[in-house]
Amino acid sequence: MTTSFGLYSQYYDLLYKDKDYEGETAYVKALLEHYATDPIAQILELGSGTGIHAEKIAEAGYGVLGVELSETMLAAAMPKAAQSGGKLDFTLGDARTFRTDRRFQAVISLFHVLSYQTSDADLEAMMETVSHHLEDGGIFIFDFWYGPAVLWQRPSTRVKRLENDEISVVRVAESVIHDAENVVDVNYTIFATEKLSAKTEMVCETHRMRYLFLNEIDRLLTNAGMYRVIAEEWMSSSTPGTETWGVCVVARKNAG
Ligand SMILES: C[S@@+](CC[C@H](N)C(=O)[O-])C[C@H]1O[C@@H](n2cnc3c(N)ncnc32)[C@H](O)[C@@H]1O
Repeated sequence: MTTSFGLYSQYYDLLYKDKDYEGETAYVKALLEHYATDPIAQILELGSGTGIHAEKIAEAGYGVLGVELSETMLAAAMPKAAQSGGKLDFTLGDARTFRTDRRFQAVISLFHVLSYQTSDADLEAMMETVSHHLEDGGIFIFDFWYGPAVLWQRPSTRVKRLENDEISVVRVAESVIHDAENVVDVNYTIFATEKLSAKTEMVCETHRMRYLFLNEIDRLLTNAGMYRVIAEEWMSSSTPGTETWGVCVVARKNAG
């Protein structure tokens, strides 16, 4: 199975150790509580990565099944399941094709997982997976790269530096936009230096990201038997605009 998160995954938690997973989980939890019509017991997470959101959501009392395409990301998540007292489970799977007989009151897919589905067919397939697993009236919470902001701001080269006791990591992200396909190739070069030996490893990986527009999102949802309840800027809840790179949508599956 091909995935963008092959070598990159070994540095993922370090690269995002400054990410506000605590605040993000509180935000998602508030959306779950506000928009769910029935009490939520079980949540399906598509693209659960190293399992940080899932772990925090499970700590809040929900059962979470995480589905992840990358074996190395999944391996980093697994110990969290073992420590969760049965609240948390992770499995290898593809958000486009994953199927289980279980149904969920909510599906979540966080940190741009939808934007990793770069073709129309992939996006449609992921929406079908969501709809298949949602109970009628259940909700789907996801975020994605917002087209108007990507086109207005244009992706720029970014450098990120992070370290822990053992290694220091420099990540250079150079992006190429392909306007005709609504995708951006983010070319990552990672230099990881082991502090003790001063040895440096270089890793190169390209992540192709699809930016999306609300009319596309609405069409994808409608075709999969869902509808959009809200679209807002991720975390701030502001109205999306040309400054809003990450938009969060709450959608609902049609009743009956
Ligand atoms: C930016 S990471 C986000 C991980 C996690 N949700 C988080 O917030 O830390 C995107 C994740 O989506 C996964 N992913 C992308 N496409 C996928 C697919 N079709 N099925 C399952 N996982 C997928 C990647 O392997 C990666 O772990």
